[in-house]
Amino acid sequence: MKKVGVDAGRCVGCGACVRACPLGVLELDGGKAAVNERRHCMECLHCAAACPVRAITWQGLAPEALYRAMPEDPVVRTVAMRRSTRHFRPDCPERAVLTRALDQAEYAPSSKNEHKNQWTVVLGRDKTDALIAPVAEWGAANGRPELEKQLERGINMITCGAPCLIIGHIPEHANNPEGDVVIAMTTTELLLARAGLSVCWGGYLKRAISATPALREALGIPRDHVVAGVLMVGYADGEEYVNVPWRRPADIHWN
Ligand SMILES: Cc1cc2nc3c(=O)[nH]c(=O)nc-3n(C[C@H](O)[C@H](O)[C@H](O)COP(=O)(O)O)c2cc1C
Repeated sequence: MKKVGVDAGRCVGCGACVRACPLGVLELDGGKAAVNERRHCMECLHCAAACPVRAITWQGLAPEALYRAMPEDPVVRTVAMRRSTRHFRPDCPERAVLTRALDQAEYAPSSKNEHKNQWTVVLGRDKTDALIAPVAEWGAANGRPELEKQLERGINMITCGAPCLIIGHIPEHANNPEGDVVIAMTTTELLLARAGLSVCWGGYLKRAISATPALREALGIPRDHVVAGVLMVGYADGEEYVNVPWRRPADIHWN
Protein backbone atom coordinates (compact mmCIF):
# COMPACT_ATOMS: atom_id res chain seq x y z
CA MET A 1 0.00 0.00 0.00
CA LYS A 2 1.22 3.48 -0.84
CA LYS A 3 1.31 6.26 1.75
CA VAL A 4 -0.42 8.58 -0.68
CA GLY A 5 -4.19 8.37 -1.08
CA VAL A 6 -7.15 10.32 -2.42
CA ASP A 7 -10.21 11.45 -0.46
CA ALA A 8 -12.77 10.66 -3.19
CA GLY A 9 -15.41 12.72 -1.37
CA ARG A 10 -13.33 15.88 -1.79
CA CYS A 11 -11.74 15.17 -5.19
CA VAL A 12 -13.25 17.20 -8.03
CA GLY A 13 -11.43 15.27 -10.77
CA CYS A 14 -9.52 18.31 -12.07
CA GLY A 15 -6.39 16.20 -12.77
CA ALA A 16 -3.94 18.69 -11.21
CA CYS A 17 -2.38 15.90 -9.11
CA VAL A 18 -2.12 13.61 -12.12
CA ARG A 19 -0.20 16.25 -14.05
CA ALA A 20 1.99 17.12 -11.06
CA CYS A 21 2.99 13.51 -10.26
CA PRO A 22 6.38 12.88 -11.94
CA LEU A 23 6.02 9.10 -11.98
CA GLY A 24 2.43 8.44 -13.05
CA VAL A 25 1.33 7.22 -9.61
CA LEU A 26 -1.96 9.13 -9.83
CA GLU A 27 -4.48 8.61 -12.61
CA LEU A 28 -8.01 9.71 -13.33
CA ASP A 29 -10.45 6.85 -12.92
CA GLY A 30 -14.17 7.46 -13.39
CA GLY A 31 -13.72 11.23 -13.03
CA LYS A 32 -11.73 11.01 -9.77
CA ALA A 33 -8.02 10.79 -9.00
CA ALA A 34 -6.88 7.32 -7.94
CA VAL A 35 -3.58 5.74 -6.88
CA ASN A 36 -1.93 3.24 -9.23
CA GLU A 37 -0.43 0.75 -6.77
CA ARG A 38 1.97 -0.63 -9.40
CA ARG A 39 3.87 2.61 -9.86
CA HIS A 40 6.83 3.69 -7.74
CA CYS A 41 6.09 6.78 -5.59
CA MET A 42 9.06 8.95 -4.51
CA GLU A 43 6.90 10.77 -1.96
CA CYS A 44 7.61 14.26 -3.30
CA LEU A 45 4.02 15.29 -2.46
CA HIS A 46 3.66 17.28 -5.67
CA CYS A 47 0.12 15.86 -5.74
CA ALA A 48 -0.75 17.54 -2.43
CA ALA A 49 1.04 20.74 -3.44
CA ALA A 50 -1.05 20.95 -6.62
CA CYS A 51 -4.49 19.88 -5.30
CA PRO A 52 -6.81 22.92 -5.20
CA VAL A 53 -9.30 21.18 -2.84
CA ARG A 54 -6.77 19.38 -0.61
CA ALA A 55 -8.10 15.94 -1.47
CA ILE A 56 -4.73 14.19 -1.29
CA THR A 57 -4.14 12.25 1.92
CA TRP A 58 -0.90 11.01 3.37
CA GLN A 59 -0.70 8.07 5.72
CA GLY A 60 -0.55 9.16 9.34
CA LEU A 61 -0.55 12.91 8.71
CA ALA A 62 -3.36 15.22 9.78
CA PRO A 63 -4.45 17.60 6.99
CA GLU A 64 -3.00 20.62 8.82
CA ALA A 65 0.41 18.90 8.89
CA LEU A 66 0.26 17.71 5.27
CA TYR A 67 -0.91 21.11 3.98
CA ARG A 68 1.29 23.69 5.69
CA ALA A 69 0.21 27.27 6.28
CA MET A 70 1.46 29.62 3.57
CA PRO A 71 4.50 31.45 5.04
CA GLU A 72 3.96 35.20 5.33
CA ASP A 73 7.63 36.05 4.98
CA PRO A 74 8.37 36.44 1.25
CA VAL A 75 11.78 34.76 1.42
CA VAL A 76 10.44 31.76 3.35
CA ARG A 77 7.48 31.61 0.95
CA THR A 78 9.77 31.56 -2.11
CA VAL A 79 11.77 28.70 -0.60
CA ALA A 80 8.70 26.71 0.52
CA MET A 81 6.83 27.16 -2.77
CA ARG A 82 9.80 26.25 -4.99
CA ARG A 83 8.93 22.98 -6.73
CA SER A 84 10.69 20.95 -9.39
CA THR A 85 8.84 21.60 -12.65
CA ARG A 86 8.51 18.89 -15.30
CA HIS A 87 6.14 20.46 -17.82
CA PHE A 88 7.62 23.36 -19.79
CA ARG A 89 6.36 25.59 -22.58
CA PRO A 90 8.51 25.25 -25.71
CA ASP A 91 9.55 28.95 -25.82
CA CYS A 92 13.06 29.76 -24.63
CA PRO A 93 13.85 32.12 -21.79
CA GLU A 94 15.60 35.25 -23.03
CA ARG A 95 19.37 35.38 -22.82
CA ALA A 96 19.15 38.68 -20.92
CA VAL A 97 16.97 37.10 -18.18
CA LEU A 98 19.33 34.13 -17.79
CA THR A 99 22.38 36.38 -17.80
CA ARG A 100 20.88 38.61 -15.11
CA ALA A 101 20.14 35.66 -12.80
CA LEU A 102 23.61 34.17 -13.29
CA ASP A 103 25.21 37.59 -12.70
CA GLN A 104 23.17 38.08 -9.53
CA ALA A 105 24.15 34.58 -8.34
CA GLU A 106 27.78 35.73 -8.30
CA TYR A 107 26.83 37.19 -4.89
CA ALA A 108 26.63 33.61 -3.57
CA PRO A 109 29.56 32.56 -1.39
CA SER A 110 32.55 31.05 -3.17
CA SER A 111 35.42 29.22 -1.47
CA LYS A 112 38.43 31.61 -1.10
CA ASN A 113 36.34 34.02 -3.21
CA GLU A 114 37.59 32.16 -6.28
CA HIS A 115 34.40 32.47 -8.38
CA LYS A 116 35.64 29.97 -10.96
CA ASN A 117 32.20 28.64 -11.91
CA GLN A 118 31.44 28.45 -15.64
CA TRP A 119 28.07 27.99 -17.30
CA THR A 120 27.28 26.27 -20.56
CA VAL A 121 23.76 27.17 -21.61
CA VAL A 122 21.93 24.95 -24.09
CA LEU A 123 19.06 26.94 -25.65
CA GLY A 124 16.32 25.43 -27.79
CA ARG A 125 14.11 22.34 -27.58
CA ASP A 126 15.81 20.81 -30.62
CA LYS A 127 19.14 20.95 -28.80
CA THR A 128 17.85 19.77 -25.40
CA ASP A 129 15.81 16.96 -27.02
CA ALA A 130 18.97 15.75 -28.78
CA LEU A 131 20.44 14.87 -25.36
CA ILE A 132 17.62 12.50 -24.36
CA ALA A 133 18.71 9.44 -26.37
CA PRO A 134 22.41 9.52 -25.40
CA VAL A 135 21.53 9.98 -21.72
CA ALA A 136 19.02 7.10 -21.83
CA GLU A 137 21.72 4.97 -23.52
CA TRP A 138 24.16 5.90 -20.79
CA GLY A 139 21.49 4.93 -18.23
CA ALA A 140 20.89 1.53 -19.82
CA ALA A 141 24.63 0.78 -19.65
CA ASN A 142 25.07 2.14 -16.13
CA GLY A 143 22.35 0.67 -13.93
CA ARG A 144 19.58 3.16 -14.78
CA PRO A 145 17.29 1.05 -16.98
CA GLU A 146 14.29 2.95 -15.61
CA LEU A 147 15.10 5.89 -17.91
CA GLU A 148 14.32 3.97 -21.10
CA LYS A 149 11.26 2.34 -19.50
CA GLN A 150 9.92 5.76 -18.42
CA LEU A 151 10.46 7.19 -21.92
CA GLU A 152 8.42 4.31 -23.33
CA ARG A 153 5.60 5.39 -20.96
CA GLY A 154 5.90 9.01 -22.04
CA ILE A 155 7.78 10.12 -18.91
CA ASN A 156 10.93 12.13 -19.60
CA MET A 157 12.88 12.57 -16.35
CA ILE A 158 16.04 13.34 -18.37
CA THR A 159 15.24 16.81 -19.74
CA CYS A 160 11.54 17.09 -18.77
CA GLY A 161 11.06 18.81 -22.14
CA ALA A 162 12.82 21.95 -20.88
CA PRO A 163 13.88 24.34 -23.67
CA CYS A 164 16.97 25.45 -21.77
CA LEU A 165 19.70 23.73 -19.77
CA ILE A 166 22.24 25.47 -17.58
CA ILE A 167 25.25 23.22 -17.08
CA GLY A 168 27.53 24.28 -14.21
CA HIS A 169 31.17 23.27 -14.45
CA ILE A 170 34.44 24.37 -12.91
CA PRO A 171 38.17 23.57 -13.24
CA GLU A 172 38.91 20.42 -11.22
CA HIS A 173 41.78 22.17 -9.38
CA ALA A 174 39.42 24.82 -7.92
CA ASN A 175 39.39 24.98 -4.13
CA ASN A 176 35.83 23.65 -3.69
CA PRO A 177 34.77 22.59 -7.19
CA GLU A 178 31.46 20.79 -6.78
CA GLY A 179 30.39 22.84 -3.76
CA ASP A 180 30.93 26.27 -5.29
CA VAL A 181 28.89 25.42 -8.39
CA VAL A 182 26.03 23.88 -6.42
CA ILE A 183 25.83 26.90 -4.07
CA ALA A 184 25.61 29.22 -7.09
CA MET A 185 23.06 26.99 -8.82
CA THR A 186 20.78 26.87 -5.78
CA THR A 187 20.94 30.66 -5.65
CA THR A 188 20.30 30.86 -9.41
CA GLU A 189 17.22 28.63 -9.10
CA LEU A 190 15.63 31.04 -6.62
CA LEU A 191 16.57 34.07 -8.72
CA LEU A 192 15.08 32.45 -11.83
CA ALA A 193 11.86 31.83 -9.89
CA ARG A 194 11.73 35.58 -9.14
CA ALA A 195 11.96 36.13 -12.92
CA GLY A 196 8.94 33.85 -13.52
CA LEU A 197 10.99 30.86 -14.64
CA SER A 198 10.73 27.31 -13.35
CA VAL A 199 13.50 24.79 -12.81
CA CYS A 200 14.20 21.12 -12.24
CA TRP A 201 17.65 19.83 -11.37
CA GLY A 202 19.01 17.39 -13.95
CA GLY A 203 20.84 14.68 -12.05
CA TYR A 204 20.71 12.18 -14.90
CA LEU A 205 22.05 14.79 -17.32
CA LYS A 206 24.83 15.69 -14.92
CA ARG A 207 26.00 12.11 -14.44
CA ALA A 208 25.72 11.16 -18.11
CA ILE A 209 27.52 14.31 -19.34
CA SER A 210 30.26 13.85 -16.69
CA ALA A 211 30.86 10.26 -17.73
CA THR A 212 30.57 10.55 -21.53
CA PRO A 213 33.54 12.21 -23.30
CA ALA A 214 31.59 12.58 -26.58
CA LEU A 215 28.83 14.53 -24.80
CA ARG A 216 31.32 16.78 -22.99
CA GLU A 217 33.10 17.46 -26.25
CA ALA A 218 29.87 18.20 -28.15
CA LEU A 219 28.93 20.67 -25.40
CA GLY A 220 32.39 22.24 -25.36
CA ILE A 221 33.06 21.43 -21.71
CA PRO A 222 36.82 21.27 -21.08
CA ARG A 223 38.22 17.86 -20.14
CA ASP A 224 39.73 19.14 -16.89
CA HIS A 225 36.41 20.56 -15.61
CA VAL A 226 34.11 18.95 -13.05
CA VAL A 227 30.49 18.92 -14.26
CA ALA A 228 28.81 19.80 -10.96
CA GLY A 229 25.15 20.24 -11.85
CA VAL A 230 22.53 20.89 -14.51
CA LEU A 231 19.39 23.00 -14.25
CA MET A 232 16.51 22.39 -16.64
CA VAL A 233 14.89 25.79 -17.14
CA GLY A 234 11.78 27.23 -18.78
CA TYR A 235 8.30 28.60 -18.28
CA ALA A 236 5.96 26.15 -16.52
CA ASP A 237 3.18 24.79 -18.69
CA GLY A 238 0.01 24.00 -16.74
CA GLU A 239 1.88 22.82 -13.65
CA GLU A 240 0.79 25.00 -10.79
CA TYR A 241 1.39 24.58 -7.07
CA VAL A 242 -1.04 26.13 -4.61
CA ASN A 243 -0.13 24.46 -1.30
CA VAL A 244 3.00 24.13 0.80
CA PRO A 245 3.46 20.37 1.24
CA TRP A 246 4.84 18.58 4.30
CA ARG A 247 8.59 18.11 4.43
CA ARG A 248 10.46 16.15 7.10
CA PRO A 249 11.83 18.27 9.93
CA ALA A 250 15.56 19.03 9.88
CA ASP A 251 17.70 16.28 11.46
CA ILE A 252 19.66 18.39 13.94
CA HIS A 253 22.27 17.21 16.45
CA TRP A 254 23.04 19.96 18.98
CA ASN A 255 26.54 19.80 20.36
C1 LIG B 1 20.78 16.88 -7.42
C2 LIG B 1 19.38 16.65 -7.91
C3 LIG B 1 19.19 15.92 -9.07
C4 LIG B 1 17.90 15.73 -9.56
N1 LIG B 1 17.74 15.08 -10.74
C5 LIG B 1 16.51 14.97 -11.31
C6 LIG B 1 16.37 14.42 -12.62
O1 LIG B 1 17.33 14.03 -13.28
N2 LIG B 1 15.10 14.36 -13.14
C7 LIG B 1 14.01 14.81 -12.45
O2 LIG B 1 12.90 14.73 -13.00
N3 LIG B 1 14.12 15.35 -11.20
C8 LIG B 1 15.34 15.47 -10.63
N4 LIG B 1 15.49 16.06 -9.39
C9 LIG B 1 14.32 16.63 -8.70
C10 LIG B 1 13.94 15.84 -7.45
O3 LIG B 1 13.28 14.66 -7.80
C11 LIG B 1 13.04 16.76 -6.57
O4 LIG B 1 13.83 17.82 -6.08
C12 LIG B 1 12.40 16.04 -5.40
O5 LIG B 1 11.51 15.04 -5.86
C13 LIG B 1 11.63 16.99 -4.47
O6 LIG B 1 10.67 17.76 -5.18
P1 LIG B 1 10.71 19.36 -5.11
O7 LIG B 1 12.06 19.79 -5.68
O8 LIG B 1 9.58 19.83 -5.95
O9 LIG B 1 10.57 19.76 -3.68
C14 LIG B 1 16.77 16.25 -8.87
C15 LIG B 1 16.98 16.99 -7.69
C16 LIG B 1 18.26 17.20 -7.23
C17 LIG B 1 18.47 18.02 -5.99
